[in-house]
Amino acid sequence: MTETAAQTIHLAEYQPPSHLIEDVSLTFRLDPKATRVLSEIRFVPNPAREDALAGKADLRLDGVQLKLISAAIDGNPVDVTPDATGLTLPAALLPAGPFTWEAEVEIAPAENTALEGLYMSNGMYCTQCEAEGFRKITYYLDRPDVMAPFRVRIESDLPVLLSNGNPVAAGPELAEWEDPWPKPAYLFALVAGDLVAHIDRFVTRSGETVDLNVWVRPGDEGKCAYAMDSLKRAMKWDEEVYGREYDLDIFNIVAVDDFNMGAMENKGLNIFNSKYVLASPETATDDDFARIEAIIAHEYFHNWTGNRITCRDWFQLCLKEGLTVFRDQSFSGDMRSHAVKRIEDVLDLRARQFREDAGPLAHPVRPDHYQEINNFYTATVYDKGAEVIAMLKRLVGDDAYRKALDLYFERHDGEAATIEDWLKVFEDTTGRDLSQFKRWYTDAGTPHLKVTDDFKDGSYTLHFEQETAPTPGQAEKPPRVIPIAVGLLNPNGDEVVPTQMLEMTEAKQSFSFDGLAARPVPSILRGFSAPVILERETSAEERAFLLAHDTDPFNRWEAGRGLAKQVLLRMVTEGAAPAPGYLSGIEALLRDNGLDPAFRALALRLPSEDDMAQTLHAAGITPDPSRIHAARQDLQRALASQLSALLPALYTEMAVPGAYTPDAAAAGKRALRGAALALLTRLDDGATAQGQFAKADNMTEQLGALAALLDIGKGTDEVTAFETRWRADRLVMDKWFSLQVLYAAPEACAATAARLTEHPDFDWKNPNRFRSVLGALPANAAGFHDPSGASYRLLADWIIRLDPLNPQTAARMSSAFETWARYDGDRQDLICGALERIRQTPGLSRDLNEMTARMLG
Ligand code: PHE
Ligand code: ZN
Repeated sequence: MTETAAQTIHLAEYQPPSHLIEDVSLTFRLDPKATRVLSEIRFVPNPAREDALAGKADLRLDGVQLKLISAAIDGNPVDVTPDATGLTLPAALLPAGPFTWEAEVEIAPAENTALEGLYMSNGMYCTQCEAEGFRKITYYLDRPDVMAPFRVRIESDLPVLLSNGNPVAAGPELAEWEDPWPKPAYLFALVAGDLVAHIDRFVTRSGETVDLNVWVRPGDEGKCAYAMDSLKRAMKWDEEVYGREYDLDIFNIVAVDDFNMGAMENKGLNIFNSKYVLASPETATDDDFARIEAIIAHEYFHNWTGNRITCRDWFQLCLKEGLTVFRDQSFSGDMRSHAVKRIEDVLDLRARQFREDAGPLAHPVRPDHYQEINNFYTATVYDKGAEVIAMLKRLVGDDAYRKALDLYFERHDGEAATIEDWLKVFEDTTGRDLSQFKRWYTDAGTPHLKVTDDFKDGSYTLHFEQETAPTPGQAEKPPRVIPIAVGLLNPNGDEVVPTQMLEMTEAKQSFSFDGLAARPVPSILRGFSAPVILERETSAEERAFLLAHDTDPFNRWEAGRGLAKQVLLRMVTEGAAPAPGYLSGIEALLRDNGLDPAFRALALRLPSEDDMAQTLHAAGITPDPSRIHAARQDLQRALASQLSALLPALYTEMAVPGAYTPDAAAAGKRALRGAALALLTRLDDGATAQGQFAKADNMTEQLGALAALLDIGKGTDEVTAFETRWRADRLVMDKWFSLQVLYAAPEACAATAARLTEHPDFDWKNPNRFRSVLGALPANAAGFHDPSGASYRLLADWIIRLDPLNPQTAARMSSAFETWARYDGDRQDLICGALERIRQTPGLSRDLNEMTARMLG
């Protein structure tokens, strides 16, 4: 690997490309070690570049790890010498007008372990080009603002040969595809393999029939039905809710086992990590089904938000990702329960994005510089990016939102757009000035919203103060627009003021409500109307009151969450006993059969250990992961004994009769039943869980029982039985690896993970398997932060080992260390030592180089 000085790319230095591309024709002669790629590319000088029009612009083509066989311009061979990142065609060599560049290159997909460009997975060829993988396939202007129609010819003896667009020709050992929609190279895809399809059809609103195929390896065809069903529902939803129809004759999805991310929205040919396609009741949990539905929808929705309208440059990544996440969240809410979905999304946002925003990796939703763009596929870009759109919708209202989106599609279809373009359609639709709102895109960090109140002469006033701590490179944080949804309750529990959207724009601002007979109880930030941290002195009584009475389901859950945190905090810092008010409040909620079981299950779930560490740190207390773990275990035991009379009944009542179905109602019951089991296991020494494990006919219940047993230090026999039964199923075995690490006792965690890396099935080059062990390690908070430092060392060892093969996944895993500054001096030394050791590794990738530099400051 060549070591090059890291280069920083800045948004402010954006330059339009010197040339545009009118069309592309590619031929692939597939071979594992020596694939030949022939390209024919029609270039034209970019009218936006005077130097190019004047014939004074060189053409720089990107190309990495390519062996150039031959090159020609307008049929005349040219002699060019590529360097490590591409080649330059000097202006003097280029014809004045349009011209055709032809090149033949050789690549070795079987040797591609980075899983970027053309690579092989279990004998099948596949590609991953986002963000900058196409340059590993041929010389090209590999940037999203260069869009072109593609024609692709694949020559191979493999039975299934796929690319983007519509099939236009097929012959023996040959297939041709044509994609009429101009697209950037990052949306290019090719698949070739011995695959079978689960097929179906969709008829669009305008009556066009679309062939739908989910391609998998032979043997997996029985696990595609849910993905297909999700796809059809997503297609229909996008027509009904956004007025967007599909635009090709065929839509292909392919499942591959080796994939760095979740899935990829290549035009007409989505490529998926197989774990987000394959599902059967026996092998996939309810959570897996829900994620498959969401990710299938996400990638499909990209067809309009990402593909038809793409990003001008990679700084605009949130333009497609934030919007598409927002769309898939709305879709899942419509398919299931909005309240439950919102709570789950906020849990995730706080766990990953708030954590990121509070540490050295904090960056704006639209970053303004990077070294390696792969490092910016983050919770901030994706999930906070979605929150920003949700806020925008709240501020302008549903109708204006839909009008603005219509305008966005009309104005920018076929273009590579920016966040400025996006905001402008809202300004033009509503007449609003969104310059202050734009700070949500440009300023990093989570605002803290401090709230006080007073009541006098029937008037209730809420005083808000917003403040955002400095983040790397951004010392000043001017106030943002914050939509604050507020409702007021009477002391008897009735709602006196239904939800109102307050619009905060100043650093400090007050809002009054008049004509009230008594001091109300406020319900603030309903539905989590803005991604902020609310700070308000709230008594346990008031929280218990809201837990019992709030009409807003999110805030009702939030009240229970706040109570649990308060209780845990006092248990950790003062050694206090679990507060009876919390225990009885949760019991009352659980006994309320009018409440959705899925909601009750969420209310019963305690804050995670990492969440508590974050909370303590924010309160100025150094978190001790071991104590947090112990307190959380104590609280679970206390809950179990408080609920001892209820649990067996709840467990029985929530059993779902009949054959397994993955729908939200059944999944909700199983979630509550599983939560009850986890507590019951603490009372009956695992008897119920052992029974469930032996009888379970679905993975949700089998895995739930195993987790419950491991959590109380049992389950050794079940671990063995599970392995024997599932050894041949990669995706199920990933769960087996991960669960043992997740539930290992803190002091045994590193050793457990290390032992599993010796297992014959620990194929560390497969990202799912790598993550199942080394990704589970930081998820066991007390185990990861065990004072010995063994887990830190183990993770660093494996990151260093993976980096030369797969820098993208290695770099992602390194963010486990981002929270080092929260902890005590000894732990800080150990974590920074591990990071330093990674940083000092000779030949370190650009990916990890940037990550370690950002984390160490
Ligand atoms: N664009 C993909 C998505 O969000 C994510 C992805 C990024 C996949 C980079 C692979 C590589 O849908
Ligand atoms: Zn996406």
